[in-house]
Amino acid sequence: MGENGSFWLPEAASTIAPEVDALFYFVYWTSILFFVGVVGFLIYFAVKYRRKDHSFVPPAFHENKWIETASIVIPTILVLIVFTWGFKVFVKMYAAPPDAYEITVRGKQWYWEYEYDNGVVVPNEVHVPIGRPIKLNMSATDVLHSYFIPEFRVKHDVLPNRYTSLWFQVDEAGEYQVYCTEYCGTSHSAMLGKLIAEPEAEFQRWLSDQNADRPPEELGEILVASYNCAACHSVDGSRGVGPTFQGLFGSERQFEDGTTVVADENYLRESILMPAAKIVETYPPAMPPSYSSLSARELDGLIAYIKTLQ
Ligand code: CUA
Repeated sequence: MGENGSFWLPEAASTIAPEVDALFYFVYWTSILFFVGVVGFLIYFAVKYRRKDHSFVPPAFHENKWIETASIVIPTILVLIVFTWGFKVFVKMYAAPPDAYEITVRGKQWYWEYEYDNGVVVPNEVHVPIGRPIKLNMSATDVLHSYFIPEFRVKHDVLPNRYTSLWFQVDEAGEYQVYCTEYCGTSHSAMLGKLIAEPEAEFQRWLSDQNADRPPEELGEILVASYNCAACHSVDGSRGVGPTFQGLFGSERQFEDGTTVVADENYLRESILMPAAKIVETYPPAMPPSYSSLSARELDGLIAYIKTLQ
């Protein structure tokens, strides 16, 4: 239970949470009202019409059209209210605003891995800016998990063979508990994470610190994984669509136009940013120029990583 929670629900910390709670309490109080009414009349009639002596025969009773009509119409109206109301909140919960800040989430046995758009990868502790919608793009690398933040009233299954997503917006800074709510093996109950919502400036500072802390070759390894370089370039010497990274640095490259060059930092840089500039013999010019937007730091990281693969 959060600081400002009730007996039934924890603190409502996201922008959608009050709407979910309002619907919950509508159903809750309607149920209480009917429960008290039904049980009240039950007790009242049981006492009032109890059999007083053994010779008493109750008068014959036939249906009452008004009571029958009311007991069909009133519940139908209530159910339709709950349906339309619930559908509205549902649509809002599942359609993320187009300007949402996106973070990749991967569920693994038994932790959550987060990846930001600048390549920063952090386990289990996710920082998000307040005051703007956040969209989590989720998948699992092994088995089914489920991502749940009770204070935000958002929860979604995380699956190994497709992407799912959820979104939320928090307007006040705070720390929240992330749960895995799909049994995923031995340490399922220990698959706990933390979400830290903080002002934009603090969040940006945290994010750049994550980047700065990382040694270049480690950053490079992360980037190779996140950009899926390995789909074409192996790191163990085997031949792929493109040349292997192993032993690449410092080797002599043979190009299809007959020229050669020794692979140094500048050669790697050019090959990443402008892959069509020099085509290695026997390989197709298959690499897209998608990586020309890499930052200088990311480039340094990739080159440092490739250098370690001797
Ligand atoms: Cu992951 Cu339970």
